[in-house]
Amino acid sequence: MPFSCFFLFLAIEVNALHAASGTQDFGFGIACPLGYFPCGNITKCLPQPFHCNGIDDCGNHADEENCGDNSGWSQQLDAIYDKKAFQYSLDLETDECLVGSVPIECLCRGLELDCDGAGLLVIPSVSSNVTLMSLKGNQLRKLIANVFKKYQDLQYLYLQNNNISFVSGHAFRGLYNLTKLYLSHNKITFLKPHVFEDLHKLEWLIIENNTIKCVSPLTFYGLNSLILLVLMNNSLAQLPDKHLCQHMPRINWLDFEGNHIHNFRNVTFISCSSLTVLVLRRNKISSVNENSFSALQRLAELDLANNKIESLPQHLFKDLKELSQLNLSYNPIQKIEANQFDYLIKLNSLSLEGIEITNIQRRMFSPLKELSHIYFKKFQYCGYAPHVRSCKPNTDGISSFENLLASIIQRVFVWVVSAVTCFGNIFVICMRPYIQSENKLHALSIMSLCCADCLMGIYLFMIGAFDLKYRGEYNKHAQLWMDSIHCQLVGSLAVLSTEVSVLLLTYLTLEKYICIVYPFRFLRPGKYRTISILVLIWMIGFVVAFIPLSNKDFFHNYYGTNGVCFPLHSEQSESTGGQIYSVIIFLGVNLVAFIIIVFSYGSMFYSVHQTAITAMEIQNHVKKEMTLAKRFFFIVFTDALCWIPIFTLKLLSLLHVEIPGSITSWVVIFILPINSALNPLLYTLTTRPFKEMINQVWHNYKQRRSLGGKNNQKMYGPSFIWVEMWPTEDTSPELTNPANFTDSSES
Ligand SMILES: *[C@@H]1O[C@H](CO)[C@@H](O)[C@H](O)[C@H]1NC(C)=O
Ligand SMILES: *[C@@H]1O[C@H](CO)[C@@H](O)[C@H](O)[C@H]1NC(C)=O
Ligand SMILES: *[C@@H]1O[C@H](CO)[C@@H](O)[C@H](O)[C@H]1NC(C)=O
Ligand SMILES: *[C@@H]1O[C@H](CO)[C@@H](O)[C@H](O)[C@H]1NC(C)=O
Ligand SMILES: *[C@@H]1O[C@H](CO)[C@@H](O)[C@H](O)[C@H]1NC(C)=O
Ligand SMILES: *[C@@H]1O[C@H](CO)[C@@H](O)[C@H](O)[C@H]1NC(C)=O
Ligand SMILES: *[C@@H]1O[C@H](CO)[C@@H](O)[C@H](O)[C@H]1NC(C)=O
Ligand SMILES: *[C@@H]1O[C@H](CO)[C@@H](O)[C@H](O)[C@H]1NC(C)=O
Repeated sequence: MPFSCFFLFLAIEVNALHAASGTQDFGFGIACPLGYFPCGNITKCLPQPFHCNGIDDCGNHADEENCGDNSGWSQQLDAIYDKKAFQYSLDLETDECLVGSVPIECLCRGLELDCDGAGLLVIPSVSSNVTLMSLKGNQLRKLIANVFKKYQDLQYLYLQNNNISFVSGHAFRGLYNLTKLYLSHNKITFLKPHVFEDLHKLEWLIIENNTIKCVSPLTFYGLNSLILLVLMNNSLAQLPDKHLCQHMPRINWLDFEGNHIHNFRNVTFISCSSLTVLVLRRNKISSVNENSFSALQRLAELDLANNKIESLPQHLFKDLKELSQLNLSYNPIQKIEANQFDYLIKLNSLSLEGIEITNIQRRMFSPLKELSHIYFKKFQYCGYAPHVRSCKPNTDGISSFENLLASIIQRVFVWVVSAVTCFGNIFVICMRPYIQSENKLHALSIMSLCCADCLMGIYLFMIGAFDLKYRGEYNKHAQLWMDSIHCQLVGSLAVLSTEVSVLLLTYLTLEKYICIVYPFRFLRPGKYRTISILVLIWMIGFVVAFIPLSNKDFFHNYYGTNGVCFPLHSEQSESTGGQIYSVIIFLGVNLVAFIIIVFSYGSMFYSVHQTAITAMEIQNHVKKEMTLAKRFFFIVFTDALCWIPIFTLKLLSLLHVEIPGSITSWVVIFILPINSALNPLLYTLTTRPFKEMINQVWHNYKQRRSLGGKNNQKMYGPSFIWVEMWPTEDTSPELTNPANFTDSSES
């Protein structure tokens, strides 16, 4: 029964595997567009994100079925052999004990004996017609010669969780009818050759969690029916140099997970031609011979995860025509050939977790027509396998399989922030020329700043536009997008914007600093000097932004490391050149600029504070200082808000701290544009000249209407109105409420 059941299970499994393979037609004749899946037998297609999201979106629960990668057999086997092992007593029809007298601690039903946890020190003696003996969790220490000899009808023998350290070479003599033998969780270190000689009918041999150090083909002598051999969590240092499966011709499933195997020869598996599953996970295998698996024509699952394999021979998989699941995760593999997987035409599931694939390309996965599940180290790699239905990880925090911007909040706010930034800056650019009482050179710098900040808005707009373009099917385009010239240009636009903005802010700050700290020296820059500084700043910005595009060898794909094309943290450590460059920019130039800004405003405030005490009357001075302090605080605060997270991120990624990708996209959409969006407010909309202009306009408007009570003379400006930077005029604003200044000085 169990034997045929097992094969039935295998057959069903193979059919299921083939049925589940890669087509979009899911067997109900309903074809859905790419990125959509059908709701079982009803004609409804839903986008991929609805699959397995815990909500019955289809209405018939079809979207919540098959949520796992079912191509793995190991999980299925676990389920099956655990159930079969412990369900025996449920199948019984009789409660009567048919095996004569049994020890008092034991239970007996029919021909089955259950002595679990009975504290036995020796094998109990019962009638010879017993078919099942469960002795789990006892204190057996030895299995002496011929101890089971009389139990020739025994089919199931459970000896887990004992203290067995010695197994006689003749211990299992006479168990001609045994089909399943469990020896897990004991202290067996050695199995003598021929120890299983009589077990011609044994199908399952499970010896997990012992300390077996070596096995030879002769250990398994006589196991003519063995299908499943599990030697998980033992101490095997190597597999025999000779034909491992010589004496177990039907072996189907070999599990050597969690041993210390460091190598095996190309002859080891040569006689294992029936092998379907080979698990070598968590060993110390460092190299594999090109011909190691050449005899395994029927192999369906190969698990080499968590080993120390550094290179894969080019034709390693050439004979594995039936392989449907391959796990190579967490090996220090340096390089994967483009044609490495070409032979695996039936592959269904491929795990490459934890592997840096520097030369990744579509060519690698395109021959794998049946592939439906693929697992990578990085989300970015998913773009190279666009035909695979399920790719994990399914997001890098920024993008998802479906969308360039994974989060809906980001998809909406990229437009909002872009609009605010663009509008504010364009408004200021248009308004500035109409402000009369203004230093023209200062206005020029401010307009320059607005232009730079406006580029940030354009950058966000482009990201939003491409997100819209790729909506729902981003993965198909991800790699092309990140490699495209559009991405490069958009990225350099953002860097140009931030760098010019940072340099201009520093320049403006230094200008004010000089004016305030040395008010009596005539250090105001002339027209020529201002213009050349502005030109210089823009040139530096362009150079910084476009240098990475000039040398592909040095920088690789500097901007295209993520979907938003901003080189904030490139954990893709492919180009050290690019990394050093971005550290120099973000932690060098920008940090220095930030420190200059903080320091300058600090000493400006101190300087004003000092002069005020000597030159001004106290009452006025307090107000003025309050407003100045607030204004300085806000300028430094927004700079800090914008830059400190970025410095921190950069520093952390320098220290190899794992940074979730989602942080990057939030920084790019919300933090980075803070300055660009607020600069118009800080440097124009809340300054005295602008306020005066607005007042003028308002006043004219009122006069034209020649209405309005005298009480309405008071003007309410925007919520923050501060004096302009140079507190030389005497018309200081009246302080009515700390957050809301009104100005009644006009009229
Ligand atoms: C779909 O299948 C379910 C059972 O799997 C059945 O009850 C239902 O009637 C079927 N619906 C259609 C439209 O065929
Ligand atoms: C098993 O053996 C015992 C005695 O050894 C006997 O009483 C019993 O009837 C036998 N049961 C069967 C099903 O043969
Ligand atoms: C297992 O056997 C060893 C001696 O072989 C003994 O020292 C140890 O206490 C035993 N452990 C248990 C849990 O019985
Ligand atoms: C057990 O094996 C013996 C000899 O191989 C055979 O005669 C007998 O019928 C078997 N018993 C069962 C229950 O299969
Ligand atoms: C094998 O060892 C690992 C690690 O020690 C442990 O997590 C796992 O539960 C063990 N498996 C079995 C079946 O004992
Ligand atoms: C034995 O199994 C337990 C879990 O059941 C695990 O924690 C332990 O590490 C295993 N021991 C060995 C040597 O694998
Ligand atoms: C096994 O590998 C050795 C070299 O390691 C080679 O000489 C031999 O031909 C290989 N045998 C087979 C059957 O591939
Ligand atoms: C592949 O192996 C890794 C590491 O042991 C494991 O986490 C992962 O689940 C495996 N993949 C599949 C598909 O079984």
